[in-house]
Amino acid sequence: MSWHENKRVLVGVSGAIAAYKSPALVRCLVQRGCEVRVVMTRAAEQFITPLTLQAVSGHPVCRHLLSADTESGMGHIELARWAEVIVVAPAGADCIARLAHGRADDLLAAVVLAAAGDVEVAVAPAMNRQMWESPATQRNLAELAQRGVRIIGPAAGDQACGETGPGRMTEPDDIAAELIGDAPPLLLDGVEALITAGPTWEALDPVRGLTNRSSGKMGYALARAARDFGARVTLVSGPVTLDAPNGVRRVDVGSAEEMLEAVMAEAPAADWFIGVAAVADYRPARVAAHKIAKKDARMRIELVRNPDILAAVAAMKRGPFTLGFAAETENVIAHARQKLTSKGVDVMAANQVGSGDAGDVLGGDENAVTLLHKAPRRGDVALEKTDKYRLAVQIIEHIAPLLAARRRGGGGGRGNDGTGGDRSGA
Ligand code: PMT
Repeated sequence: MSWHENKRVLVGVSGAIAAYKSPALVRCLVQRGCEVRVVMTRAAEQFITPLTLQAVSGHPVCRHLLSADTESGMGHIELARWAEVIVVAPAGADCIARLAHGRADDLLAAVVLAAAGDVEVAVAPAMNRQMWESPATQRNLAELAQRGVRIIGPAAGDQACGETGPGRMTEPDDIAAELIGDAPPLLLDGVEALITAGPTWEALDPVRGLTNRSSGKMGYALARAARDFGARVTLVSGPVTLDAPNGVRRVDVGSAEEMLEAVMAEAPAADWFIGVAAVADYRPARVAAHKIAKKDARMRIELVRNPDILAAVAAMKRGPFTLGFAAETENVIAHARQKLTSKGVDVMAANQVGSGDAGDVLGGDENAVTLLHKAPRRGDVALEKTDKYRLAVQIIEHIAPLLAARRRGGGGGRGNDGTGGDRSGA
């Protein structure tokens, strides 16, 4: 399993002093791209508050078996079906006994019991060394292991009770590494990434408008991947049906003019601007105050040019490194190269859309791009068709060294990465 796979992980927290490490485990999993939900037992709440775990997981904590869990909106069967991995950490001696005996009288035990065979279940024991060594605990663990439950740890060392020996919960990063693999490299550590995504909505009247088929998936995938690589991400989003990735700050906008305003407010603080949004080039010259009534057989709508957001950011003095996406249906590379120059961006991703195999890029789950560089000595880089998150990862792996070189060179468009210092723009 790898962090590329974005697993849905359910973390169960039982009552043990090591529960103070559970928020760190949640963070380690989120950093590996996992979506995390937390289930707490009543005893766990004696050691740590649900609010802490809600803050790090980005979701309300699930706590109740019988009352419909109004906060999380998920019952025990839904949670068991949702999870691809369940890890109980810490798993105290009582919790292990309850799981081994197939109890279902609290939410955590019921979820584990209801988990289907393809769900990976793991426990990270944490208890006093004597309780760990007791034949009852060892029998319970053997029972769980025999059912395919992975036992992670425990480690040995000083214990909260003052004794020394086996029973310390394995460190959160080691649990996450065992379940998901190593964390992604922090290629974008300290980077402020500003990303636009989705379509714009150019109103004609209070109920109608001009828009396009962009779903936001490519921009959201870049936001998620940038976050996974350690960036702080602001996502300026047109109207889409996607949820913001955990840890990503989203600013919702409608029209191109609203998007421009939001972007220009954020851009001075950004190190990297990525324009993925399918921004309308034109908007209706007038927005009717009331719904336009049907009259003649034909009608004309006058359109006026919208501002170019990407070009505006690229023209900023000491502005961020800029990556644009050129959506083209024909002569893809030539048209994208022309936009690279006219908009004055550092890198343009040439993106075939709307024809042949690539017909479903807008709204689809996969994409392919060729990266074209302003710096003349950098060749074109073709990235093959894959799912949008993996493509986002490859784009970041390619751009991160350019960003790092620019930062070493003093930033603000005067880098030594060969992307050039003249950012006078379009
Ligand atoms: O959202 P999905 O369904 O996942 O689809 C992804 C995508 C196909 C929309 C995306 O990968 C993509 O190609 N985005 C660019 C869409 C676009 O507007 O292309 P363009 O060639 O018209 O514009 C070139 C660049 O200028 C883009 O970075 C665009 O954001 C920017 N632009 C365009 C017009 C304008 N008024 N302001 C801009 O900033």
